[in-house]
Amino acid sequence: MDFTITPAERSDIPEITEIYGHHVRHGTASFETEPPSIQDMADRLGRVLSAGSPWLVARGSDGRVLGYAYSSQFRDRAAYRFAAEDSIYIRDDMRGKGIGAALLTALVEASEAAGFRQLFAVIGGAEPASIALHAGAGFHMAGRMVGIGRKHGRWLDTVYMQRALGPGDSTPPDEVPT
Ligand SMILES: CC(C)(COP(=O)(O)OP(=O)(O)OC[C@H]1O[C@@H](n2cnc3c(N)ncnc32)[C@H](O)[C@@H]1OP(=O)(O)O)[C@@H](O)C(=O)NCCC(=O)NCCS
Repeated sequence: MDFTITPAERSDIPEITEIYGHHVRHGTASFETEPPSIQDMADRLGRVLSAGSPWLVARGSDGRVLGYAYSSQFRDRAAYRFAAEDSIYIRDDMRGKGIGAALLTALVEASEAAGFRQLFAVIGGAEPASIALHAGAGFHMAGRMVGIGRKHGRWLDTVYMQRALGPGDSTPPDEVPT
C-alpha cells in the first residue's frame, strides 16, 4: 500500500469529516451519534494544532486522505498536561492495509516530541481491531468501564489502554507541552 504520513492541513478537513462521519454513523469507536460538520472538524483541528499537539494524515499517491490520527491533552485540567489521548480513523474501504499501524507509530513519536509522557487510547465499544492495533504499538490494558455507552441499540464498554512516551513517569518533565 503506497501512502505517506504528513501533518494535516486545513484543506484535508472535508475528507477528515467524511472519514470520521462514516465511523460515527456506523461504528462504536466514537460515542458521538451525529456526524460533526466540516466547521466542527475545522474547529477541532484548530484547537489541537494551537495546543501544539499533532494531527497527522495518511495520504495515498493520488493525494486522497486515507486516514488520520491525532493526540490531545487527555482532560483539560492542568495536572493532565503530560497525558494525551489518541484518536485514529481509517477510511472504511482502506482498513486492514497497515495504514492504522503506520499512523499510530508516527503519532507515538509526534506525541512524545510534543512533550507528552503518557498516551492513552479510549476504545469505545471495546473494538477488537483497535485493541489489537494498540497492543501492537506497545499499549497495555489500563482499565475497562462496563456499559458506559449506548449506541446502535446496545450497551457499550470502553477499554482504556496506555503506553509511556520517552521516560514516562520515571523522571520529572523538563518541558511543558505548548
Ligand atoms: C482500528 C483501525 C484504526 C485500525 O487501522 P487499520 O489500518 O485497519 O489497521 P492495520 O491494517 O494497520 O492493522 C494494524 C493491526 O491492527 C489489528 N487489526 C486491524 N484490523 C483488525 C481486525 N479487523 N480485527 C482484528 N485486528 C485487527 C491487527 O493487530 C493489525 O496488525 P497485523 O496486521 O499485524 O495483524 C481502523 O480499523 C479503524 O479506523 N477502525 C474504526 C475506528 C476505530 O476503531 N478507531 C480507533 C479509535 S480508539
